[in-house]
Amino acid sequence: MAEVVLQGVSKSYAGRPTVHAVDLAIADKEFMVLVGPSGCGKSTTLRMIAGLEDITSGRLLIDGREVTHAEPQKRDIAMVFQSYALYPHMTAYRNMAFGLLKTSRLSKEEIDQRIREAAEILHITHLLDRKPNALSGGERQRVAIGRALVRQPKVFLFDEPLSNLDAKLRTHMRGELKRLHKELGLTVIYVTHDQIEAMTLGTRVAILSQGRLQQVGAPMDLYMRPANTFVATFIGSPEMSLLRCALKPNGEGSLVHHAAFDTRVPERLEASEILLGVRPEEVIVGAADAPAMARGVVERTELIGSEALAEIRLGEDRIVARTPVMSAPPAGAEVGLNFDMARVRLFDAATGSAMPRL
Ligand SMILES: Nc1ncnc2c1ncn2[C@@H]1O[C@H](COP(=O)(O)OP(=O)(O)O)[C@@H](O)[C@H]1O
Ligand SMILES: [Mg+2]
Repeated sequence: MAEVVLQGVSKSYAGRPTVHAVDLAIADKEFMVLVGPSGCGKSTTLRMIAGLEDITSGRLLIDGREVTHAEPQKRDIAMVFQSYALYPHMTAYRNMAFGLLKTSRLSKEEIDQRIREAAEILHITHLLDRKPNALSGGERQRVAIGRALVRQPKVFLFDEPLSNLDAKLRTHMRGELKRLHKELGLTVIYVTHDQIEAMTLGTRVAILSQGRLQQVGAPMDLYMRPANTFVATFIGSPEMSLLRCALKPNGEGSLVHHAAFDTRVPERLEASEILLGVRPEEVIVGAADAPAMARGVVERTELIGSEALAEIRLGEDRIVARTPVMSAPPAGAEVGLNFDMARVRLFDAATGSAMPRL
């Protein structure tokens, strides 16, 4: 069992609040990804869980036991860093053995067996005699993961472990991490600034902005039902367009007015101004003379292989639409637009919070 619970965990550096009362429960065998822009407090949060950084206030529990102020080695956690932090003068084997020799009571034979098993799983058996400078970036990363695996900790912490790898290797290692998690039933807390990495790896994803937790949920949940405009625009690429509209209650629903269109939604909403959140795949682009909800002018079109992205001016706003390459409208063209109104999201313009939809 390995369950990690953060209760109102906060961090201040020299009196300056950096992480604000984070409440988060990571279940046994879960792959929890902590994602957010650079500087939002991801590493600080992870280091507090590892015990490498003091917790200013709040509580941390592992398997129901309070470890808020426990020494790092008393927490039964292993951390893998972006920099790998391998000892350059030791072979891969020694790097993996070193921590166990120092801190465990395992015999040499038991340690050897653990290293051989981990090496097998990570496909690095043939590299065990090499020193880090004779290993590629991806191989070093495997050794660093191996060093964590041999300790058989309750919880694995990863801080941007793939950031130093090229794009192809990163995608490959992502698959490997997913496999390890599944095969070995690991409990993982994984930090990244990359929303695609978060969406592909996480069983759940926690989104952080300026030290505050914005939303926690399954990847598709965050994509389909973002709690606020931060989450809405952080997850998804190209990002969701936000169109500022005036709102007026009308019968059981509401009238939505934008400079380029008028429409209605079935919900009766209280806000006077909203942001209509539309993802590129929720815009249907048609001919200028076909019946449409709105009319706009194409500013530019980008071909991205299987499909095209068209940036379209709509009054004062811009909206991005995904279209098949064959029907991509050229720059300068006037087009008719229909939105998939059942799927678009509505945000209170004053607070940025999502409004409930029927
Ligand atoms: N040891 C420290 N002393 C003072 N400020 C720090 C320290 N470590 C991090 N910070 C600040 O805390 C904020 C969050 O940092 P960090 O957790 O590293 O962000 P992230 O990992 O999300 O990029 C940043 O503004 C950073 O400058
Ligand atoms: Mg960081």
